[in-house]
Amino acid sequence: MSANKPDNRETATGMDAHAQFEHRTWGEMHETYDSHFGRITVQAADDLLSAAGVKKGIGVLEVACGTGNISRAATEAGAVVIGIDFVDGMLSEARRLHPGIDFRPGDAQALPFEEETFDAVVCNFGVHHFSEPLVALGEAHRVLKSGGRYAFTVWSPPSDVKVNFRQIIREAVNEHADVQDALPPGPSESHFASPENCARTLEGVGFRDVSTIEIPLLGAWPRPEQVLDTIYNAMARSKTLIDAQSASAKKNIESAIVERARQFEQSGTVRIPMPAMLTRARKP
Ligand SMILES: C[S@@+](CC[C@H](N)C(=O)[O-])C[C@H]1O[C@@H](n2cnc3c(N)ncnc32)[C@H](O)[C@@H]1O
Repeated sequence: MSANKPDNRETATGMDAHAQFEHRTWGEMHETYDSHFGRITVQAADDLLSAAGVKKGIGVLEVACGTGNISRAATEAGAVVIGIDFVDGMLSEARRLHPGIDFRPGDAQALPFEEETFDAVVCNFGVHHFSEPLVALGEAHRVLKSGGRYAFTVWSPPSDVKVNFRQIIREAVNEHADVQDALPPGPSESHFASPENCARTLEGVGFRDVSTIEIPLLGAWPRPEQVLDTIYNAMARSKTLIDAQSASAKKNIESAIVERARQFEQSGTVRIPMPAMLTRARKP
């Protein structure tokens, strides 16, 4: 597997407001992300790698690798893995946690690799963070070999039918927020949670055999108040939105989240569903 253009930091200097926001907030959370959120997102590893056909000996790129847990799982499956992320702090953590794996700086929207380099490209909870997801999908397609497979996850939408973690935050914010526009304009968080959108969008950039399923992830905390630690230490958008509120609104949002979380407490553990949508596709 050749991997040219090893450093993409120049691309990162031309970031739009949304990318700058992502770059700054993930940079601020790089030391706390893994213990608060990486332990949850890694639950998607087996399904994600299986959807991408990851097996011994194949070349795998993990895009937006964060602290590198998916790269580690792919390495353990015997693949030859490179993980990229555009936040240096995340890469430092990835290298510290998983020594020996090849983690490099890189922008999902300008992948630092030649065409047809990898057998599989995976992205765990990254696609909805990219300013131009279509460009990122096109880049994944470009660096895949013919017949190569692409798989990614995003969070399922908030749901008041089967209440999930996103719904708990959304309800608390909707009820109590006094500042609505705390986040820079960015791509839709839920576009890639829709199987129809995924099929249409991925086919549009040249993928085939697109399918999307829901997979069950679970957040678990000893006490409901600790849900707030996860938000403040590892959830860039929710933290920014809550921090932007007046002191009283912030307090009300926090109380509302804790009270809702308390309803999920059983036998001394708070377990909240955090379902995800997993999409797979093939480059013809
Ligand atoms: C929610 S975290 C997911 C991390 C990891 N994949 C996981 O499963 O825990 C999102 C990651 O996307 C990275 N990211 C956001 N925009 C990016 C971009 N344009 N290029 C590369 N990485 C990006 C962030 O730095 C962050 O590490």
